[in-house]
Amino acid sequence: MKYSEQLLAATSFLDNQLKDHKIELPHTLVVLGSGLGPFADSFSDCVKISCESIPHFKSPGVSGHAGAIVFAKTDNGTIAFQQGRLHFYEGHSDDEINFPLRVLRKLGCKNLVVTNAAGSLNPNFHPGDLILIKDHINHCGRNPLIGPNKEDIGPRFPDMSEVYSKGMRESLRSVAKELNIDIKPGTYFHVSGPSYETPAEIKMFRALGGDMIGMSTVPEVIAAKHAGYNILGISCITNYGAGIIDQVLKHEDVKNEANKAMNKFTKLIGTYLQRHN
Ligand code: HPA
Repeated sequence: MKYSEQLLAATSFLDNQLKDHKIELPHTLVVLGSGLGPFADSFSDCVKISCESIPHFKSPGVSGHAGAIVFAKTDNGTIAFQQGRLHFYEGHSDDEINFPLRVLRKLGCKNLVVTNAAGSLNPNFHPGDLILIKDHINHCGRNPLIGPNKEDIGPRFPDMSEVYSKGMRESLRSVAKELNIDIKPGTYFHVSGPSYETPAEIKMFRALGGDMIGMSTVPEVIAAKHAGYNILGISCITNYGAGIIDQVLKHEDVKNEANKAMNKFTKLIGTYLQRHN
């Protein structure tokens, strides 16, 4: 089956599920990164559909990334949450990684909120900090749009001069200010992983203009921009980049640190989502 047909099959499956549960089409998709997945379970009025049961969806294999789409009914309409994501380092193709966001776009989502756990490259960013992504550097050696252009989704040469919507960033900053939550802007530096960086690489990536570093988000964001989403990105700093302090990096610690920031994260995103659509 062609990719475009797989997209349509998954979209119509989810559309039927929403109709069965009398839920309106979603306007916003929130992708929850490592350790941040439980946020979607905090909504009382929601329907959770495991990725396994959706045609052509693949299930994430990384610990801390349960695979499901949650549709939450709120006073501000329906919000879709993607719990868990696929990563290139697991051996998935970019088309597989971006399948869910392309389906949700067809289903009606026009806004995308991406979240991730990231290492700090900036001496002013510390574990537990939430950072508003203002731009990114794609340093993974590939672009998810390589290959014949998917004309049914977007243009051959999408503009990347304002990937992260200025308007959405301003709205989030004003919500953060009101809630007294500190959130600084930063540039996300994307590497493929799965190995963490060496201290020499961390020094180089800082010199190249990165503020935080991670193994996700950028392939999704490029595909999302291509598909016409308005995009907001938030990183949760879980550790200092290798060599900044004397420590050994472990995925368990990254997940634990992201979990610790959950309260702040939930308050900020929760309030933002109540107001903006
Ligand atoms: N490097 C790359 N990816 C990450 C890190 C890191 O230090 N922390 C969380 N994701």
